[in-house]
Amino acid sequence: MTYVVTGRCTNCKYTDCAVTCPVSAFHEGPNMLYINPNTCIDCNACVDACPVQAIFRDADVPARYADYLNINAEQAPKFPEIIDKKAPLPTAKTLDQVLAAEEQNL
Ligand code: F3S
Repeated sequence: MTYVVTGRCTNCKYTDCAVTCPVSAFHEGPNMLYINPNTCIDCNACVDACPVQAIFRDADVPARYADYLNINAEQAPKFPEIIDKKAPLPTAKTLDQVLAAEEQNL
């Protein structure tokens, strides 16, 4: 089992999640964070920290974000770990904006 950062994080990168992780499983890509499934201990600490609810347990990833299970596994090892909070990207959306975009299938 692992937790997965989904496309809701793309171009947001709030990074609140990274500081909650006791095992430094988050890695920072240019547009989003990834969880290394080999590091994640399934503690659930990061889920509630994300302002746009971008993180899911692998078994609970919504169908539209199913690809992110593999994307996290492939991308996480390519980027450095992140353990501190940073400013979000200027393109960061609110949860309402994210949900509205999903409703319109954007
Ligand atoms: Fe992304 Fe949410 Fe973390 S937007 S960086 S998963 S707090």
